[in-house]
Amino acid sequence: MPAYAVIGAQWGDEGKGKIIDFLAENAAVIARYSGGNNAGHTVINDAGTFKLHLVPSGICWPHAMNVIGNGVVVDPDVLLKEINENDLDPSRLAVSDRAHLIMPYHISLDQLEEQRRGDAKIGTTGRGVGPAYIDKVSRQGLRVGELLDPEDLTLRLPAIVAFKNEIITKIYGGDPIELNAVFEKANMWAGQLAPYIRPVENLIADALESDGKVIIEGAQGALLDLDHGTYPYVTSSNPTVGGTLTGLGMGPRSYGGVAGVFKAYCTRVGEGPFPSEIHGEEGDSIREQAGEFGTTTGRARRIGWFDAVAGRYSARVNGFDAMIITKLDILDGWEEVNICVAYEIDGVRTEQFPVDAVTLDRAKPIYETHPGWTESTRSITKNSELNDGARAYIHRLEELIGVPTKILSTGPRREETLVIEDFLA
Ligand code: IMP
Repeated sequence: MPAYAVIGAQWGDEGKGKIIDFLAENAAVIARYSGGNNAGHTVINDAGTFKLHLVPSGICWPHAMNVIGNGVVVDPDVLLKEINENDLDPSRLAVSDRAHLIMPYHISLDQLEEQRRGDAKIGTTGRGVGPAYIDKVSRQGLRVGELLDPEDLTLRLPAIVAFKNEIITKIYGGDPIELNAVFEKANMWAGQLAPYIRPVENLIADALESDGKVIIEGAQGALLDLDHGTYPYVTSSNPTVGGTLTGLGMGPRSYGGVAGVFKAYCTRVGEGPFPSEIHGEEGDSIREQAGEFGTTTGRARRIGWFDAVAGRYSARVNGFDAMIITKLDILDGWEEVNICVAYEIDGVRTEQFPVDAVTLDRAKPIYETHPGWTESTRSITKNSELNDGARAYIHRLEELIGVPTKILSTGPRREETLVIEDFLA
């Protein structure tokens, strides 16, 4: 059976968790491929409200296997907390032996590096994600599987910690990390995580060869992608579709569909250019109404109009064949809604998305204004219940992005979902 990717199409926080939980009813495997516990996915269903950072959003379905792929960076403290809080046994969760570990020194370094950047800070989540990926690339990382090899840890860890402590103390003036404390943690992690650690690419391949559908769960969003996002204001992994192949060890022919999850407007957390940002009271009132505060850090999200220039770019670099639009109900009752259809950069109109942050920062949004709608879209589940104003807005987004909408999310709960066309067909 094919795989279906559900990818953040903007700057993250598009509501992927809710969508994955909805789709997971019909999936055998739900797999994460990138990022770490910088992500925050909120899932609300009859069993309660779940705020997940690391484990996939399929955990509320007892039949489903949840997989953390090799492309993810794993903070074992966070993983164990989520395992315990959600009673996950190894028949429902597997972690790749080749996923890299977020170690205590990565968390210290993330925070120290941000402080040192001062005004040029990225606004990271401070969870050690960037430094863990740096170590992966510089071949100084430790992988989850190494927890099960104490000899290897005894050999490598002292030199790594000594080197990190030189950086922490001599460059940043921070407090050194205690080697013994790290060893103790590693032993504890090994004992508790051992049953979950597996070569997950086999598990994915087996599912693809059998009847089960595999849902690939995005974290962050395409515009935060290390290669395709608004560099340097990006995360340190590849949330775009390419990251799914390296982050899980699967081939492109496995795909049955790639959906981009778009919020009906835009948000961004952290620093970086955001051409359609709504400043002042209007933005503040949307933030309050929509509860736009980060699941991971609690930070206020910046609010903006739907940016079709960025959206079209995102659709291209991911090859989306479906749009999933979330938070449509937040726009109910607005007199007018704007869509950013082009930018003006240095006096010239363009419909191309300039990925480099300096140019993008000079982009002024060119808006198309649409009449709003007074009828509520909240909780609607049938196409016939969609009012004409909201339908026209969705159609215009489809035209601008060039991709059909398959699912509309009309509230945070699982059942507040309108399926226009089955994405997993
Ligand atoms: P990092 O991933 O913690 O290194 O942060 C890099 C940038 O990505 C910052 O602007 C963060 O706010 C942003 N970011 C990371 N994860 C998420 C997410 O799950 N949602 C939204 N923004 C995120």
